[in-house]
Amino acid sequence: MRTLGPLTVAAQSSHGKRGNMSKTQDELKIEVAQAALDYIAPHVRPNSILGIGTGSTANHFINLLGESKLAFSGTVASSEASAQRLRDWGITVLELSSVDSLQFYIDGADEANDALELIKGGGAALTREKIVAAASETFVCIADESKAVSTLGSFPLPVEVIPMAERVVMKALKALGGRPQVREGVMTDNRNIIIDVHDFMISDPKATETAINQITGVVCNGLFAHRGADILLLSGQNGVVTKTA
Ligand code: 5RP
Repeated sequence: MRTLGPLTVAAQSSHGKRGNMSKTQDELKIEVAQAALDYIAPHVRPNSILGIGTGSTANHFINLLGESKLAFSGTVASSEASAQRLRDWGITVLELSSVDSLQFYIDGADEANDALELIKGGGAALTREKIVAAASETFVCIADESKAVSTLGSFPLPVEVIPMAERVVMKALKALGGRPQVREGVMTDNRNIIIDVHDFMISDPKATETAINQITGVVCNGLFAHRGADILLLSGQNGVVTKTA
């Protein structure tokens, strides 16, 4: 583990005085997004293409990338929302099908273990996230310390499912030992539904990822175990630590 440098956030008190207070989760997300930019910057070249994830931490990264003077060729986004945010910053967004390889993929996570296996999909973008991660040379995962766990599964595992397969997949997920619940009012960018599997402690993430993918009607599940992160940047009250598997 390597500390990138403690950063104390001086927060504004209600009387206008600044004092040392603990950093909020949002401040930790900004801090780790900045650490990711600092991490990739020395390696990025004018012809580099970057994969960009989805969620509030990824949004902070997009904002910092937009404000930066970093020279690169373009990005591939893991969701329509991130693509729009990138375009709003004037950043080129490419189709993955037009790109040979992505140098880095920068994205958040809902949970991360010590092996850098992840649960993702809290923002319902898991399938495109997994595709972009698979196409990337280095997956830099950015998260605040609340996402670090010893065993994956406290966060309900998102599964993207073809709508007509809802009942059949729910039954199969119950048989695997979880408590599946359809995420109400959510349709993915691929026009599918999300089923979140609750009460499902995952002792063997790779085996569970494979088992869920075997269920007919499942498009993808939010376990990133076969292709986990290469680097995890984790922000906490004492700074950002870098973890490698
Ligand atoms: C979206 C994701 C996000 O990376 C994950 O939900 C973390 O989000 P946030 O950065 O808002 O905490 O997987 O599908």
